[in-house]
Amino acid sequence: MQSDPAKIGPEDPRLSVRLGPLRLRNPILTASGTFGYVREMAGIVDLSRLGGVVPKTITLQPRIGNPPPRIVETPSGMLNSIGLDNDGLEHFLQVHLPYLRTVPTQVIVNIAGKTADEFAVMAERLAEANASEGGLAGLELNLSCPNVAGGVDFAVDPTLTAAVVRQVRKVWPGPLLAKLTPNVHSILPAAQAAVEAGADILSLVNTFLGMAVDWRRRVPVLGNVTGGLSGPAIKPMVLRLVYQAAGRFSVPIIAIGGITTIDDVMEFLVAGASAVQVGTANFFDPTVSMKLVAQLPQALDVLGACSVSEIINSIRRP
Ligand code: SIN
Repeated sequence: MQSDPAKIGPEDPRLSVRLGPLRLRNPILTASGTFGYVREMAGIVDLSRLGGVVPKTITLQPRIGNPPPRIVETPSGMLNSIGLDNDGLEHFLQVHLPYLRTVPTQVIVNIAGKTADEFAVMAERLAEANASEGGLAGLELNLSCPNVAGGVDFAVDPTLTAAVVRQVRKVWPGPLLAKLTPNVHSILPAAQAAVEAGADILSLVNTFLGMAVDWRRRVPVLGNVTGGLSGPAIKPMVLRLVYQAAGRFSVPIIAIGGITTIDDVMEFLVAGASAVQVGTANFFDPTVSMKLVAQLPQALDVLGACSVSEIINSIRRP
C-alpha cells in the first residue's frame, strides 16, 4: 500500500513514527468513538496536524445501540454504553469513505463483527474499496466492545481473538490493528494470540467495565446497566498494560487510556507505546490532539531527544 504524502506530510522528521507497515507524521491520533466520522470535527481541528484519526466503529448492519442514558460522567472519567450505534458498512462506504479519502491525515477504519466470518466479510469489502480508490491507512479490529451482548468482546478469549485476526489477515493486506480489552486477568494471552495470527499493531486498550448507581431511585444510571470506563481515571492501569506488553512483544503498540496532557503522551511513549489515541479528552476539548502535537517538540527537548522514535520504550526496566 502506497503512503499518500498528503496524509503523512509535511513530515517533521523528529515527530514522524513508523509502526511496522504504518507511517504517521506524528504519534498523536484520535480514538474511535470520540471523533465521530471526522467530518463533524473538521471545522474545529486542523486535521493536517494529526498523526491520524480512527472513526467510530462500524458493523456490517446498522445498529441503533443501547437504550439511554448511554453516557455518565464519573470522577476523572466517563462511562459509556453506546452499544455500537452506527449506520452500517454500506453507509460507511457510500457516505463516509468518500469524505475520509479527502482528509489530510491517516485514516484507520475500526470495525466490529458478531462472528469471525462477519469481520472477514467487512474487511474484504473495505480492502476492495481501498484497492480501487484508497483512503484507508489501516484497519483496527474492535475485539473489545464491552457494551454489546452476544460474543462481541472477542478479546476476552485468546482463541476467539486468533480466529478473528487470522480470518481478517487473509483478506486485508494493509496494516492490521487489534484493539484489545482490559477486562481480563492478563492481557498477554490475547495479545500473543493477535500477534501470532497476524496483527501488525496492538491497540491497548478499550474501556474498563463499570457501572453507576442512582441510589435515591435505587436503579442503575445507564440504560444498559453497565458501561465502559474511559478518561484520566484509567490511565495508570493502561500504562501498566502497555509497559507489560511492550516488555513481551516486539510489535508496535498504540496506547489508548485517558491521554489528556503532554505528560500523558510522554509517559506512554517512554513506557512502550509507539503512538497514542486521544479519546475522552476530545469531549471536553476537541482541539486537544492538535495541542499535544504542538507540545511534543518541547517535551523531546526536555529529554534531549532528537526524535520520538528515540524515546519509544526507553524506560529503564528493573
Ligand atoms: C460502544 O459503542 O459501546 C463503545 C465502543 C467500544 O467500547 O468499543
